Amino acid sequence: MTPTIMIALDFPTGQKALEFLDQFKEPVYVKVGMELYYSEGPSIIEEIKKRGHKIFLDLKLHDIPNTVKSAMKVLARLGVDVTNVHAAGGIKMMQAAKEGLEEGARERGQEEVPMLIAVTQLTSTDEEMMRSELRIDGKMEDVVVHYAENARKAGLDGVVCSAWESPMIHERVAADFKTITPGIRLAGDAKGDQSRVATPAKAKALGSDYLVIGRSITKAADPVAAYRRCMEEMENE
Ligand code: C5P
Repeated sequence: MTPTIMIALDFPTGQKALEFLDQFKEPVYVKVGMELYYSEGPSIIEEIKKRGHKIFLDLKLHDIPNTVKSAMKVLARLGVDVTNVHAAGGIKMMQAAKEGLEEGARERGQEEVPMLIAVTQLTSTDEEMMRSELRIDGKMEDVVVHYAENARKAGLDGVVCSAWESPMIHERVAADFKTITPGIRLAGDAKGDQSRVATPAKAKALGSDYLVIGRSITKAADPVAAYRRCMEEMENE
Protein backbone atom coordinates (compact mmCIF):
# COMPACT_ATOMS: atom_id res chain seq x y z
CA MET A 1 0.00 0.00 0.00
CA THR A 2 1.15 3.54 -0.70
CA PRO A 3 2.15 5.26 2.56
CA THR A 4 0.48 8.50 3.65
CA ILE A 5 2.68 11.60 3.60
CA MET A 6 2.67 13.83 6.69
CA ILE A 7 4.24 17.23 6.02
CA ALA A 8 6.23 18.44 9.04
CA LEU A 9 5.04 22.01 9.64
CA ASP A 10 8.26 23.11 11.32
CA PHE A 11 7.57 26.85 11.31
CA PRO A 12 8.08 29.26 14.20
CA THR A 13 4.75 31.08 13.82
CA GLY A 14 1.21 30.21 12.83
CA GLN A 15 1.26 32.87 10.13
CA LYS A 16 4.25 31.28 8.39
CA ALA A 17 2.74 27.80 8.72
CA LEU A 18 -0.62 28.87 7.28
CA GLU A 19 0.98 30.84 4.42
CA PHE A 20 2.86 27.68 3.52
CA LEU A 21 -0.21 25.47 3.84
CA ASP A 22 -2.43 27.76 1.78
CA GLN A 23 -0.37 26.90 -1.32
CA PHE A 24 -2.00 23.46 -1.22
CA LYS A 25 -5.42 23.37 -2.82
CA GLU A 26 -6.20 19.83 -1.70
CA PRO A 27 -6.38 18.48 1.88
CA VAL A 28 -3.05 17.13 3.13
CA TYR A 29 -1.79 15.54 6.36
CA VAL A 30 0.46 17.74 8.51
CA LYS A 31 2.60 17.20 11.59
CA VAL A 32 2.46 19.99 14.17
CA GLY A 33 5.35 19.84 16.62
CA MET A 34 6.22 21.50 19.90
CA GLU A 35 7.56 24.75 18.44
CA LEU A 36 4.43 25.65 16.51
CA TYR A 37 1.98 24.33 19.12
CA TYR A 38 3.67 26.05 22.06
CA SER A 39 3.91 29.29 20.14
CA GLU A 40 0.29 29.36 18.91
CA GLY A 41 -1.70 27.04 21.18
CA PRO A 42 -4.94 25.29 20.21
CA SER A 43 -5.91 28.03 17.73
CA ILE A 44 -3.39 26.73 15.18
CA ILE A 45 -5.08 23.32 15.31
CA GLU A 46 -8.48 24.94 14.71
CA GLU A 47 -7.13 26.95 11.76
CA ILE A 48 -5.59 23.89 10.12
CA LYS A 49 -8.75 21.81 10.67
CA LYS A 50 -10.90 24.61 9.25
CA ARG A 51 -8.91 24.26 6.02
CA GLY A 52 -9.76 20.55 5.92
CA HIS A 53 -6.30 19.12 6.64
CA LYS A 54 -5.53 16.17 8.93
CA ILE A 55 -3.20 16.60 11.90
CA PHE A 56 -0.55 14.57 13.70
CA LEU A 57 0.09 16.53 16.91
CA ASP A 58 3.63 15.56 17.88
CA LEU A 59 3.98 16.57 21.54
CA LYS A 60 5.53 13.33 22.90
CA LEU A 61 3.78 13.30 26.28
CA HIS A 62 5.62 11.72 29.22
CA ASP A 63 4.27 12.18 32.78
CA ILE A 64 2.34 10.24 35.44
CA PRO A 65 -0.62 8.29 34.02
CA ASN A 66 -3.32 10.55 35.47
CA THR A 67 -1.76 13.72 34.06
CA VAL A 68 -1.24 12.16 30.63
CA LYS A 69 -4.82 10.90 30.59
CA SER A 70 -6.23 14.38 31.31
CA ALA A 71 -3.96 16.00 28.73
CA MET A 72 -4.98 13.45 26.08
CA LYS A 73 -8.64 14.14 26.78
CA VAL A 74 -8.00 17.79 25.89
CA LEU A 75 -6.06 16.90 22.73
CA ALA A 76 -8.83 14.56 21.54
CA ARG A 77 -11.33 17.39 22.04
CA LEU A 78 -9.22 19.49 19.65
CA GLY A 79 -10.00 16.95 16.95
CA VAL A 80 -6.46 15.90 16.07
CA ASP A 81 -6.10 12.65 14.09
CA VAL A 82 -2.84 11.28 15.54
CA THR A 83 -0.85 12.07 18.66
CA ASN A 84 1.98 10.49 20.65
CA VAL A 85 3.66 9.62 23.95
CA HIS A 86 7.08 8.38 25.06
CA ALA A 87 6.98 4.60 25.57
CA ALA A 88 9.47 5.23 28.40
CA GLY A 89 6.47 6.34 30.50
CA GLY A 90 5.47 2.67 30.77
CA ILE A 91 2.46 0.53 29.92
CA LYS A 92 0.14 2.09 32.54
CA MET A 93 0.90 5.58 31.26
CA MET A 94 0.27 4.52 27.67
CA GLN A 95 -3.03 2.83 28.65
CA ALA A 96 -4.06 6.01 30.48
CA ALA A 97 -3.19 8.07 27.39
CA LYS A 98 -5.46 5.88 25.28
CA GLU A 99 -8.29 6.12 27.82
CA GLY A 100 -7.96 9.91 27.79
CA LEU A 101 -8.21 9.98 24.00
CA GLU A 102 -11.27 7.71 24.07
CA GLU A 103 -13.01 9.90 26.66
CA GLY A 104 -12.14 13.11 24.79
CA ALA A 105 -13.40 11.69 21.49
CA ARG A 106 -16.62 10.52 23.15
CA GLU A 107 -17.23 13.97 24.64
CA ARG A 108 -16.70 15.48 21.22
CA GLY A 109 -19.29 13.06 19.86
CA GLN A 110 -16.81 11.59 17.41
CA GLU A 111 -16.74 7.87 16.83
CA GLU A 112 -13.16 7.72 15.65
CA VAL A 113 -10.52 7.86 18.39
CA PRO A 114 -7.26 9.61 17.42
CA MET A 115 -4.47 7.21 16.57
CA LEU A 116 -1.89 6.92 19.36
CA ILE A 117 1.77 6.37 18.56
CA ALA A 118 4.79 5.75 20.80
CA VAL A 119 8.29 7.12 20.61
CA THR A 120 10.64 4.24 21.51
CA GLN A 121 14.10 5.77 21.69
CA LEU A 122 14.76 9.23 20.28
CA THR A 123 16.96 9.14 17.18
CA SER A 124 19.30 11.53 19.02
CA THR A 125 20.02 8.71 21.52
CA ASP A 126 22.76 6.26 20.52
CA GLU A 127 23.55 2.92 22.12
CA GLU A 128 26.51 4.27 24.10
CA MET A 129 24.44 7.12 25.60
CA MET A 130 21.56 4.73 26.28
CA ARG A 131 23.90 2.52 28.33
CA SER A 132 26.02 5.11 30.11
CA GLU A 133 23.48 7.90 30.74
CA LEU A 134 20.09 6.18 30.72
CA ARG A 135 21.48 2.92 32.18
CA ILE A 136 19.50 0.81 29.69
CA ASP A 137 21.45 -2.32 28.78
CA GLY A 138 20.98 -4.13 25.51
CA LYS A 139 21.20 -3.57 21.81
CA MET A 140 19.35 -0.54 20.45
CA GLU A 141 17.33 -2.78 18.12
CA ASP A 142 16.13 -4.99 20.97
CA VAL A 143 15.29 -2.00 23.17
CA VAL A 144 13.29 -0.41 20.33
CA VAL A 145 11.39 -3.68 19.74
CA HIS A 146 10.76 -4.14 23.49
CA TYR A 147 9.37 -0.61 23.87
CA ALA A 148 7.25 -1.14 20.75
CA GLU A 149 5.90 -4.39 22.23
CA ASN A 150 4.97 -2.50 25.41
CA ALA A 151 3.17 0.07 23.28
CA ARG A 152 1.23 -2.67 21.52
CA LYS A 153 0.32 -4.30 24.85
CA ALA A 154 -1.03 -0.94 26.02
CA GLY A 155 -3.28 -0.83 22.94
CA LEU A 156 -1.36 1.78 20.97
CA ASP A 157 -1.43 1.82 17.18
CA GLY A 158 2.24 2.10 16.25
CA VAL A 159 5.61 3.74 16.69
CA VAL A 160 7.75 6.51 15.26
CA CYS A 161 10.90 4.95 13.81
CA SER A 162 13.35 5.11 10.93
CA ALA A 163 12.11 3.68 7.62
CA TRP A 164 14.97 1.18 7.91
CA GLU A 165 13.39 -0.12 11.15
CA SER A 166 9.93 -0.66 9.60
CA PRO A 167 10.64 -4.27 8.52
CA MET A 168 11.93 -5.16 12.00
CA ILE A 169 8.86 -3.65 13.70
CA HIS A 170 6.47 -5.40 11.30
CA GLU A 171 8.28 -8.74 11.69
CA ARG A 172 9.00 -8.71 15.41
CA VAL A 173 6.02 -6.77 16.83
CA ALA A 174 3.07 -7.14 14.44
CA ALA A 175 2.46 -6.77 10.72
CA ASP A 176 -0.38 -4.31 11.33
CA PHE A 177 1.50 -2.19 13.90
CA LYS A 178 1.91 1.19 12.19
CA THR A 179 5.29 2.74 11.46
CA ILE A 180 5.53 6.52 11.14
CA THR A 181 8.90 7.29 9.63
CA PRO A 182 10.78 10.61 9.49
CA GLY A 183 14.19 11.02 7.84
CA ILE A 184 12.80 11.04 4.29
CA ARG A 185 14.61 12.84 1.50
CA LEU A 186 13.93 13.16 -2.22
CA ALA A 187 16.98 11.87 -4.12
CA GLY A 188 19.48 14.71 -4.45
CA ASP A 189 18.21 16.73 -1.44
CA ALA A 190 20.60 17.59 1.42
CA LYS A 191 20.47 15.19 4.37
CA GLY A 192 20.89 18.07 6.83
CA ASP A 193 21.04 16.75 10.40
CA GLN A 194 19.40 13.40 9.55
CA SER A 195 21.78 10.45 9.32
CA ARG A 196 19.84 7.42 8.07
CA VAL A 197 17.65 8.81 5.34
CA ALA A 198 15.47 7.01 2.79
CA THR A 199 13.72 8.23 -0.36
CA PRO A 200 9.90 8.02 -0.44
CA ALA A 201 10.14 5.02 -2.84
CA LYS A 202 12.61 3.21 -0.56
CA ALA A 203 10.47 3.90 2.52
CA LYS A 204 7.47 2.45 0.71
CA ALA A 205 9.47 -0.64 -0.28
CA LEU A 206 10.51 -1.04 3.37
CA GLY A 207 6.84 -1.06 4.38
CA SER A 208 6.51 2.31 6.16
CA ASP A 209 2.88 3.23 6.78
CA TYR A 210 3.33 7.01 7.12
CA LEU A 211 6.21 9.21 5.94
CA VAL A 212 6.99 12.39 7.87
CA ILE A 213 8.57 14.78 5.36
CA GLY A 214 9.78 18.24 6.35
CA ARG A 215 12.52 20.08 4.53
CA SER A 216 12.30 18.12 1.24
CA ILE A 217 8.88 19.79 0.86
CA THR A 218 8.94 22.90 3.08
CA LYS A 219 12.30 24.20 1.77
CA ALA A 220 11.65 23.34 -1.88
CA ALA A 221 11.38 26.23 -4.35
CA ASP A 222 7.95 24.83 -5.27
CA PRO A 223 6.59 22.89 -2.25
CA VAL A 224 3.44 21.67 -4.02
CA ALA A 225 5.55 20.25 -6.88
CA ALA A 226 7.91 18.60 -4.35
CA TYR A 227 4.90 17.04 -2.55
CA ARG A 228 3.62 15.69 -5.87
CA ARG A 229 7.08 14.32 -6.73
CA CYS A 230 7.06 12.41 -3.43
CA MET A 231 3.62 10.95 -4.26
CA GLU A 232 4.61 10.06 -7.83
CA GLU A 233 7.85 8.46 -6.72
CA MET A 234 5.85 6.17 -4.45
CA GLU A 235 3.11 5.44 -6.94
CA ASN A 236 5.67 4.39 -9.56
CA GLU A 237 7.47 2.11 -7.07
O1 C5P B 1 13.01 18.24 7.69
P1 C5P B 1 12.88 16.78 8.02
O2 C5P B 1 12.23 15.98 6.92
O3 C5P B 1 14.18 16.18 8.50
O4 C5P B 1 11.86 16.77 9.26
C1 C5P B 1 11.55 15.61 9.97
C2 C5P B 1 10.56 15.90 11.04
O5 C5P B 1 10.37 14.71 11.80
C3 C5P B 1 10.96 16.97 12.03
O6 C5P B 1 9.75 17.60 12.49
C4 C5P B 1 11.59 16.19 13.16
O7 C5P B 1 11.50 16.84 14.39
C5 C5P B 1 10.74 14.93 13.15
N1 C5P B 1 11.35 13.73 13.74
C6 C5P B 1 12.57 13.22 13.30
N2 C5P B 1 13.09 12.09 13.89
C7 C5P B 1 12.42 11.48 14.88
C8 C5P B 1 11.20 11.97 15.33
C9 C5P B 1 10.69 13.12 14.73
O8 C5P B 1 13.17 13.76 12.40
N3 C5P B 1 12.92 10.38 15.40
